[in-house]
Amino acid sequence: TKNLETEVMGKEILCFRKVFSTNSIAKFLANHSAEEGTVLISEIQTKAKGRLGKKWESPEGGVWMSLILRPKVPPAKIGLITLATGVAIAKSIKSLGVDAKIKWPNDVLIHGDKISGVLTEVNATFNDIDWVVVGVGIDSNLKLEDFSEDIRIGTTTLTEELPTKVDENELISIFLNEFEKIYNLYKDGKTETILKDWRDLSDTIGKYVNITQTGGKVTQGYVVGINNEGNLIIERQDGTLEKIISGELRTVE
Ligand code: BTN
Repeated sequence: TKNLETEVMGKEILCFRKVFSTNSIAKFLANHSAEEGTVLISEIQTKAKGRLGKKWESPEGGVWMSLILRPKVPPAKIGLITLATGVAIAKSIKSLGVDAKIKWPNDVLIHGDKISGVLTEVNATFNDIDWVVVGVGIDSNLKLEDFSEDIRIGTTTLTEELPTKVDENELISIFLNEFEKIYNLYKDGKTETILKDWRDLSDTIGKYVNITQTGGKVTQGYVVGINNEGNLIIERQDGTLEKIISGELRTVE
């Protein structure tokens, strides 16, 4: 990895040619005492997972990686790691010269199309976190034709957005540098800084949306903002507020 300036993130990097899912391997290693900052990267994933039980297509040419973290914070603070990861990805992509925005909770978009997603998996008890695995997928050197037809609409890649190929190792370093900075803020309890960064990059605040919550409930209304646990706050038609912890969001015109 080029220009990696981190102290912890990527101290140990495991590279694979082809795996089912880097998150699955990361979880296994986390259960077998892998250290915080261990990073797993694979060129191809054959059974990668997306949020809400979806599949995640991972052909050769993308950045598919997982980070193992062991934050000593209350489990309620995990949602913030996911937001922080979105911020780190968006900043990394912006540094390549394209504008990136975040759709709640952590899809990264370029002019409205998704380029990256985050899947956070956790092992925690009521009081303590044992590990957090943060899975990051970035559609970097890929063309839309590399994906199956049904996901091409609403998807984009760096190849589609930039005139030149990106150096994937460099992109990984940029991301790990950004991630470590924001993760240190997180561990220092600098929640406000993270939330401010997230809000500045948000493509969701102020929009009228329709949300299918995990469990099936549908809510419609204005996105007022996020609270300091990273939950979305919606103002419904009748003026009441609703807190959304997890779900799928669609903008209503
Ligand atoms: C989403 O937007 O639905 C989240 C996608 C997360 C994909 C990444 S790729 C690396 C890691 N391994 C997985 O199986 N999933 C994540």
